[in-house]
Amino acid sequence: MEDHLPQRVRVERRAVSEDESRRANGPDWDRYADEYQATHGGFLGDTGFVWGPEGLTEDEAGVLGDVSGRDVLELGSGAGQCSRWVRVHGGTSYGLDLSARQLQHSLRIDEATGIAVPSVRGTATALPFADASYDVVFCSFGALQFIADLDAAVAEVARVLRPGGRFAFSITHPTRWSFPDDPSDAGLTAMSSYWDRTPYVEVDDDTGLVSYVEHHRTLGDWVSLLAGHGFRIVALVEPEWPEDHDRVWGGWSRVRGRLIPGTAIFAADLAVG
Ligand SMILES: C[S@@+](CC[C@H](N)C(=O)[O-])C[C@H]1O[C@@H](n2cnc3c(N)ncnc32)[C@H](O)[C@@H]1O
Repeated sequence: MEDHLPQRVRVERRAVSEDESRRANGPDWDRYADEYQATHGGFLGDTGFVWGPEGLTEDEAGVLGDVSGRDVLELGSGAGQCSRWVRVHGGTSYGLDLSARQLQHSLRIDEATGIAVPSVRGTATALPFADASYDVVFCSFGALQFIADLDAAVAEVARVLRPGGRFAFSITHPTRWSFPDDPSDAGLTAMSSYWDRTPYVEVDDDTGLVSYVEHHRTLGDWVSLLAGHGFRIVALVEPEWPEDHDRVWGGWSRVRGRLIPGTAIFAADLAVG
């Protein structure tokens, strides 16, 4: 739903299963990974931790808490920039991503920086880790909005976290769903219902197959989902667009960013006992 639309796709809104979402999004991220890293890699920084297009960093936000000495898992880790930041700050981080090509970029940066993030190819809905093996699980615009079965993903996060562990993630701000994905003034007129959860789907015109999917949940959906899996929300950060920030990233821009939120960052702690 941003700057990766290939040539011959048609856009639809319709129900899509978890299997179909994964079958589409893995190959889509494989195709898009080189362009994504070439376009956004410099902004992200090889050992940087950026929560979203506004450029809010974890150094500024402090959403994860002190990661030193902590076991940390990143979902939808892409090229592992954020997890590398965790390692620089004394944490033991691991990555998980659906896209093999994104993970190849992660390996490339591991080798270039000498800061390696062991990473595994997989889906956030079936984590290949033991129960209670992490202190922190986080996700910076990775995985969550691409998943149909979000209940399974949040259950998996709760399973692999230790009691009291933190789950922090950034997503497209749910209110954006009402607006066209356009960085100009045209993206400032609400066109569709905030409450319509029907997924955004791109279908390859040549094959008729789904080639990309994004799922939407309202803020209330997120609160209920987290509470239902034993989490207590400790923060909801809505980064403001910085005065001196002129970068356009898909539908994010200064034009829209100075008026409406583009990113939501949740932090939630798993109940103890
Ligand atoms: C917007 S990128 C963000 C990557 C990284 N966090 C960053 O900030 O650059 C989204 C990532 O989520 C991954 N992803 C999509 N669906 C996933 C799933 N079901 N499980 C794990 N990762 C997934 C994609 O392969 C992609 O690398």
